[in-house]
Amino acid sequence: MGVIVITGGSRGIGASTAVHIAKKGLGVILTYNTNPQAAASVVDRIEQAGGKAVALKLDVSDVGGFEAFRASVAGALLENWDATQLNGLVNNAGHGLFNPLTAVSEAQFDGLFNVHLKGPFFLTQTLLPLLAEGASIVNLTSATTRVATAGVAPYAAFKGGLEVLTRYMAKELGERRIRANAVSPGAIRTELGGGLNDEFEAMLAAQTALGRVGEPEDVARVIAMLLSEEGAWINAQTIEVAGGYNI
Ligand SMILES: NC(=O)c1ccc[n+]([C@@H]2O[C@H](COP(=O)([O-])OP(=O)(O)OC[C@H]3O[C@@H](n4cnc5c(N)ncnc54)[C@H](OP(=O)(O)O)[C@@H]3O)[C@@H](O)[C@H]2O)c1
Repeated sequence: MGVIVITGGSRGIGASTAVHIAKKGLGVILTYNTNPQAAASVVDRIEQAGGKAVALKLDVSDVGGFEAFRASVAGALLENWDATQLNGLVNNAGHGLFNPLTAVSEAQFDGLFNVHLKGPFFLTQTLLPLLAEGASIVNLTSATTRVATAGVAPYAAFKGGLEVLTRYMAKELGERRIRANAVSPGAIRTELGGGLNDEFEAMLAAQTALGRVGEPEDVARVIAMLLSEEGAWINAQTIEVAGGYNI
């Protein structure tokens, strides 16, 4: 049985992904940043369904903490799965910010950069010694890299950078048979950026060919596929999971 690390697994898309992949028989190391209770309840849900999960604290904007995180992951692998290697990494943790380009502060810009591009880069680099041959990396990006959406310029630019980085990961890690893909959600019903109000949701649904916003499960199923044997020949791709958003 393989084990996957999912950052930001305490709620939203990350929590749903944790539950889905545990159902497929994979072990889950999920991370939280500020909310240990939410992470513990995801672990409970997985264990009540017969799976195995562990929650660890991680701030993806704190590169200085990554070595210690790798040691914690190695310890959790040994203690809970009698294992030394990981079979996948999902770079999912993130936060949103709505602010017009003219008003974005340097601190807001740096905060988004650290979480959405620098963090995934160095976390992946730090965890590489633990990743097994044939492991799968999935990076969460955003449909805002394709559809310019007023108010999210730095967020979208860093997610676009993460899509480019994904192809470089695939290129340079292919010799270890490690795959890397990006999953690019449209609007999904989570608490990101304060969540959706009715008016915003109706507007987004009207811009979506399938006529609704997405649920975390819509994205989790695709991430789970990319982590499993079904996705074994998919590599270096950005897969938009958005129900046909702004087409
Ligand atoms: N929802 C959407 O419409 C949408 C669309 C496109 C892309 N995405 C992307 O999908 C991913 C997941 O989003 P979501 O909607 O599921 O978000 P969410 O419901 O707001 O959950 C965010 C998760 O990330 C964690 N997190 C936030 N900042 C962190 C940090 N600095 N270090 C470590 N963990 C941190 C949170 O942990 P704590 O709660 O413990 O702090 C939480 O587990 C993000 O990368 C987001 O950009 C989402």
